[in-house]
Amino acid sequence: MEHYVVKGGNPLSGEIEIGGAKNAALPILAASIMSDKPVTIENVPDVSDIRALIGAIEEIGASVQHPDRHTYVINGENVRRDPVDSESVRKIRGSYYLIGSLLGKHKVAEVALPGGCNIGLRPIDQHIKGFRALGADVRMIPPGHVIAEADELIGSHIYMDVVSVGATINIIMAAVMAKGNTIIENAAKEPHVVDLVNFLNSMGARIRGAGTDVIRIRGVERLHGTEYSIIPDQIEAGTFMFAAAATKGDVTITGVIPKHLECLTAKLIEVGCEVMESDDSVRVVANKRLEHTNVKTLPYPGFPTDMQPQISILLGLSRGTSIVTESIFENRFKYIDELTKMGASARVEGNTAIIEGVSGYTGANIKAPDLRAGAALVTAALAANGYSDIYDIHYIERGYEDFPEKLRALGACIAKVNSAEEERRAVNEFNFRVVG
Ligand code: EPZ
Repeated sequence: MEHYVVKGGNPLSGEIEIGGAKNAALPILAASIMSDKPVTIENVPDVSDIRALIGAIEEIGASVQHPDRHTYVINGENVRRDPVDSESVRKIRGSYYLIGSLLGKHKVAEVALPGGCNIGLRPIDQHIKGFRALGADVRMIPPGHVIAEADELIGSHIYMDVVSVGATINIIMAAVMAKGNTIIENAAKEPHVVDLVNFLNSMGARIRGAGTDVIRIRGVERLHGTEYSIIPDQIEAGTFMFAAAATKGDVTITGVIPKHLECLTAKLIEVGCEVMESDDSVRVVANKRLEHTNVKTLPYPGFPTDMQPQISILLGLSRGTSIVTESIFENRFKYIDELTKMGASARVEGNTAIIEGVSGYTGANIKAPDLRAGAALVTAALAANGYSDIYDIHYIERGYEDFPEKLRALGACIAKVNSAEEERRAVNEFNFRVVG
């Protein structure tokens, strides 16, 4: 079965370049079909969630060119009003952005309910509340489709009950060509919300306030074409920063926006790492055992829920007791069971994990329970003594491009294998590398 084989113990060292942000690229690709003109999007990560969304927009008539691995040219002129439903659409969370973009473009959208990582209930009531406030009729119809339709969308004043990235983005897309003005209060402030707004504004939208909790949208009649480059992936960068710390390494992560990484940098410094920032890179150096700390996930600019497993892996190796509180998704500690197989001392009580640091992990056979936890467990395996086999890596491939290759470039012993023979060859090579 396809999995990663890892030999732990090598400190990561060197330089690694970060790709475009998956969670910015998904809404930007969904929004690209709102124009009837060609839209060029660069720095799109080559990961399976993106390929699934591209498949979905092609299925409803978008013309998609893919001149190089990270660039798409999309023309939404012939996008139909058809229901959006296929196996790939149902697998990814990001397909719900097609509700906002199609409703905004055609005033009707029918989309299969979103899938995505099983990290909690993940309701879409705030999306629906926003669409209704703009005048849409929204209902569920068999077989599990959301249908939203309106004769006319009219700007409105919407107060979000919870801070939601997805709902903020979906409401922006639905409102961008509505009549009149829309105000979204208690909006999400994540960098990918800002990126989507910058993208839409480059297509002629009139949106202000992105990055604050009040977003104001003045409806425009149409969106034109544009050329746009996606921001670097804050979570991919953070994953490498914490991998450097967990393996007591020295890694420079390039092509980043250090401002987006500030809360991660602050935590790494707090536990004893050295972090050096330049205009577009961060270098993380850890050459000793780190200290414990407490952390609570919060909407941006707080500590991101998508980095919660990665910091727990690090704290599992730190001196003392750490408490990690998950306040965004209720089911995001499934990886703790896997981590204890590697020798961690951690238990979950409600929405907190209590972690007593141990001096080292040992390799084990483990399963990735979701995307971010899967990547974090790879980090644990890299820091562990001995070999690990990591299964269910399709989760990791949803959001990390060339993850094993990038880690290998930093000196890690990791390979993706699909048979006993491939595993044997990889292990031989690891042994040779260590001896050699
Ligand atoms: C996005 O999910 C990301 N996904 C997630 O990344 C990320 O963890 C999350 O934002 C938080 O930053 C994508 O961008 C595709 P939310 P989303 O709406 O939009 C509640 C990854 O690994 N809520 O901000 O689904 C919800 O239950 C993924 O890349 C409602 O109650 O997250 C949660 O508690 C995993 N009603 C909180 O809000 C709603 O209508 C935040 O969710 C919507 C959300």
